[in-house]
Amino acid sequence: MNLILMGPPGAGKGTQAEKIVEKYEIPHISTGDMFRSAIKEGTQLGKEAKSYMDAGELVPDEVTIGIVRERLDKNDCKNGFLLDGFPRTTTQAEALETILSDLGTTLDYVLSIDVDTEQLVERLTGRRVCPTCGATYHVQYNPPKEEGKCNHDGAELIQRDDDKPATVRKRLEVSLEKTMPLLDFYKDKGYLVSINGDQEIDQVFSDIDRKLGGLA
Ligand code: AP5
Ligand code: ZN
Repeated sequence: MNLILMGPPGAGKGTQAEKIVEKYEIPHISTGDMFRSAIKEGTQLGKEAKSYMDAGELVPDEVTIGIVRERLDKNDCKNGFLLDGFPRTTTQAEALETILSDLGTTLDYVLSIDVDTEQLVERLTGRRVCPTCGATYHVQYNPPKEEGKCNHDGAELIQRDDDKPATVRKRLEVSLEKTMPLLDFYKDKGYLVSINGDQEIDQVFSDIDRKLGGLA
């Protein structure tokens, strides 16, 4: 199954992606995660991406499209994939059409997780992540078993640099202006499936699973 997971910052894309890829056994391709690993490794890509991410701006299209093209070309994507956080601009969406057509495949669904803006700010500012395995928690809505520690490896949880209130506001603005118009793009093509993201994490997943037909 070839899927895109869309939604504003904090909608719960990463949280739901973990569950979807586990059940449907497809690779999770998150451009945000790819940029964060590149920053951690100190690569050229990381250096280029960091200033945009810290400012809450989008990394330029050429760079982002290049890494997605390379990733989708890998063998593990032959039986499906979940794109999370890509595409985010019309240029990226058009480039994705070309990439998929070059690979001889098409999209199945574009899942859009819809959440009220005030709730997004609360989710982002309360988010904590594991620097070791990338697992995501929330101080109130999804706390770890032991305060401040990852359930999987016990690592000390941290706050993402771009989850500070001023950067959060900028990211929400950019999403509204550049990414939300893509919902119409995919609606017109018949791929769009809207999911109510203003529910508990497990309920959101159960809705996604039902829409995908429960096919494992
Ligand atoms: P990226 O990493 O993609 O961030 P984002 O889209 O802003 O999304 P987030 O990761 O912030 O949120 P999410 O929807 O995954 O929510 P989560 O599940 O964590 O991008 C970061 C940056 O990289 C961008 O700003 C840009 O600079 C760059 N970038 C990435 N892709 C790019 C592209 N294609 N083009 C150009 N630049 C790009 O959940 C949030 C919190 O809420 C967590 O604490 C979670 O526990 C909690 N939560 C989740 N679901 C629920 C629920 N149902 N109820 C209560 N709490 C919940
Ligand atoms: Zn961890």
